[in-house]
Amino acid sequence: MTRTLVTGSAGRLGRSVVTALAHAGHEVIGVDVVPGTPAEAAVALPADLTDLGEAYDVMARFRPDAVVHLAAIATPFSRTDGVTFRTNTQLAFNVCEAAGNTGVGGVVVASSPTVIGYGAPGGWTPSYLPIDEEHPAAPWNAYSLSKLVAEQTMAAFARAATATRFAAVRPCFVVAPEEWAGAPTQSGHTVAERLDRPEIAGVSLFNYIDARDASDLIAVLLQRLPELPDGEVFFAGAADALARRPLAELLPQVIPETAATASNLTGPSPAFTSAKAQRMLGWTPNRSWRTELEI
Ligand SMILES: NC(=O)c1ccc[n+]([C@@H]2O[C@H](COP(=O)([O-])OP(=O)(O)OC[C@H]3O[C@@H](n4cnc5c(N)ncnc54)[C@H](O)[C@@H]3O)[C@@H](O)[C@H]2O)c1
Repeated sequence: MTRTLVTGSAGRLGRSVVTALAHAGHEVIGVDVVPGTPAEAAVALPADLTDLGEAYDVMARFRPDAVVHLAAIATPFSRTDGVTFRTNTQLAFNVCEAAGNTGVGGVVVASSPTVIGYGAPGGWTPSYLPIDEEHPAAPWNAYSLSKLVAEQTMAAFARAATATRFAAVRPCFVVAPEEWAGAPTQSGHTVAERLDRPEIAGVSLFNYIDARDASDLIAVLLQRLPELPDGEVFFAGAADALARRPLAELLPQVIPETAATASNLTGPSPAFTSAKAQRMLGWTPNRSWRTELEI
């Protein structure tokens, strides 16, 4: 049985990851500073992983085969910039360092599509659409910068060529199961509000993913890590946009410079493509707001 340690196991994405991995037969160790890790975890341990000693301690204590690193200050501007940057970068470093030096087989680090730079106050235009993993990164705030540093930290440990295999996932705006039923999303709006008022979801280019689909991708990625090139990065998004009208029509209203390139986005297509995950992992998202939203 694979023993997998999930950091941030009490969080929006962490809860679904714990459940998905447990159902896939993993023995899950949940680590978080707050309670709330689902009961499917074999163990739920409180720990502050910004402390390198605590990070080493949990690896030494549980000797996991794999680590899914989700712990972070996950909402931009929810804390002061210095705290967000310091917390997220320190967490990524500590988890990669402790896992790499204690013989963990594989580490998946959560990054974010925000690394590409949408929403920058000085203006931002995608170089092309749909956006894939080759698109230039241009973070502009403490959160997106911390996520790019987390990705680069993962890549640095991959280059250091320890026995540990590394990868990162950039999940789109995560929608947890209860949010389809009307609970507020990370932005404080309900999914229905994000659909009804395009200016809300437009800032992040109408991206989203069901938390269970993101969890399935993470489960497949853990399985495939040994045969993948080390240090790969994957977008994980729904197969459609979180919008009632086509992005070819909506995106130019948010970013006028996309008038020409947005025409590549036919029908309900999203602005971010998960084609790499489909090609390299055989993963495709199963859920859409069209099938999940309870109204
Ligand atoms: N939610 C999204 O839309 C989204 C999108 C892209 C990327 N991500 C990334 O995915 C990951 C999970 O996001 P989420 O939405 O589940 O966030 P969340 O805030 O719901 O969960 C994060 C968890 O990390 C824990 N944590 C924070 N600091 C910690 C520490 N020092 N030690 C141990 N645990 C700590 C928190 O207590 C929390 O339970 C994050 O890395 C986030 O940046 C999230």
